[in-house]
Amino acid sequence: MRRDSFGSRFGALVALAGSAVGLGNLWRFPYLVGENGGAAFIIIYIVFVFLICLPIFISEFIVGRRSQKNAFAAFRDLSGGSGWRWVGLMTVIVPVVVTSYYSVIGGWAVEYLFKSFTFSFTAEAQSVIDTMFSDFTSSPWRPLICHTAFLCVTALIVVMGIKGGIEKFSKIMMPLLFVIVMAIAVYSLTLSGSHKGVEYLFRPDFSKIDAKSCAAALGQAFFSLSLGFGTIMTYASYVDKKENIMFQSTATAVSDLMFALIAGIAVMPAVFAFGLDPQSGPGLVFETLPYVFSQMPAGGLVAILFFIALLVAAITSSISMFEVGVAYLIEEKKMSRIAACSVLLAVCWSVGALCSLSFGPLSNVRLAGMNIFDFFDNLSSNILMTLGSLLTVLFVGWRLKKTEIYDEFTNGGTISANVRIFGILWFLIRYVAPVAVAVVFLSGIIA
Ligand code: PHE
Repeated sequence: MRRDSFGSRFGALVALAGSAVGLGNLWRFPYLVGENGGAAFIIIYIVFVFLICLPIFISEFIVGRRSQKNAFAAFRDLSGGSGWRWVGLMTVIVPVVVTSYYSVIGGWAVEYLFKSFTFSFTAEAQSVIDTMFSDFTSSPWRPLICHTAFLCVTALIVVMGIKGGIEKFSKIMMPLLFVIVMAIAVYSLTLSGSHKGVEYLFRPDFSKIDAKSCAAALGQAFFSLSLGFGTIMTYASYVDKKENIMFQSTATAVSDLMFALIAGIAVMPAVFAFGLDPQSGPGLVFETLPYVFSQMPAGGLVAILFFIALLVAAITSSISMFEVGVAYLIEEKKMSRIAACSVLLAVCWSVGALCSLSFGPLSNVRLAGMNIFDFFDNLSSNILMTLGSLLTVLFVGWRLKKTEIYDEFTNGGTISANVRIFGILWFLIRYVAPVAVAVVFLSGIIA
């Protein structure tokens, strides 16, 4: 049977950007900027994106497109059947776990979209809205139902295939997402007092930067660019051999960064305009913002738009993680697409349900001192993702042949711009990226 693939350059691009742009941009980035001192964090983040993450992104792209296989088979076949296959297996398993808890937060976005349609954010005091959030997340049923809904939509899109499902959905949703986030950012800038938020975002205070915030910036850059999870590899395996890897990778990194910055501009000025604290952590989007919406003119409409954006961004990412496991089951376990989606749906639902309940009935179940959700989040997005990225870049830099990489990156020597920069890329992949990842990662653990 012929392998499914993306139907056009634009289609591949929006799918890749869709994977990258997600909760990481709209939810995680603004609160991390808040927690780590604003502009200085952003500058470090940008340096990491281009110096470390882009070479890793390109490495994943090369592995995927060269092999035209699922992540497990890509490592296995390109390494001639060696132990590297276990790294491949890890990059298949991790996104299954991440999809599970990602979909819990996706479910929260479903609930909050529903709440904004019913104009629930009308509180006079922020404490009312905070309580609304903790009541919701700690109740057993509602978050579970929302998690189920979110996951079913994810599976439904993936069942329709690469061209007919993932690409089609991304082509419609990504432009919509851009328009919405842009509109909110512009509106947020018009609020009086918003300049303090802009200053916060763009005036660096380097005294706030230490090893921990550098590790946080790198972790965020990995998460936001979907690295180390087999996702880019899997999507790249559906990209046409004629496409330019440098172009597709840079365009994805740039759009991801742009979305993060625009999201920052949408959120921070509004938070400052109402005199609130930007350092409120993960609750920023579900507690601080709804309160902001309750106070601002036309806040009801802005709330609806914001949570539509959050939901869309989350779905275009969750489908990319889901596809990693689906591709594996189809190609290695010879399942039909629908069977593969059903199996994964069941697995992700169950793991996700545990994560969801860990905010309520299961809150006293502790793994390494954390609740189930935090445990999975920490394990996968702080440790396994970094490990996956590091191993991938080592695989490309030290295990594959230089000629193979050259051939894939330059399309057989036909893209002259890529031929010219290959030397730099090779150096970044072989030395800079692995060393930088190891240093930042270790110093973050020690600090
Ligand atoms: N990049 C996504 C985001 O920013 C998350 C993600 C991670 C998606 C890994 C796919 C794989 O939310």
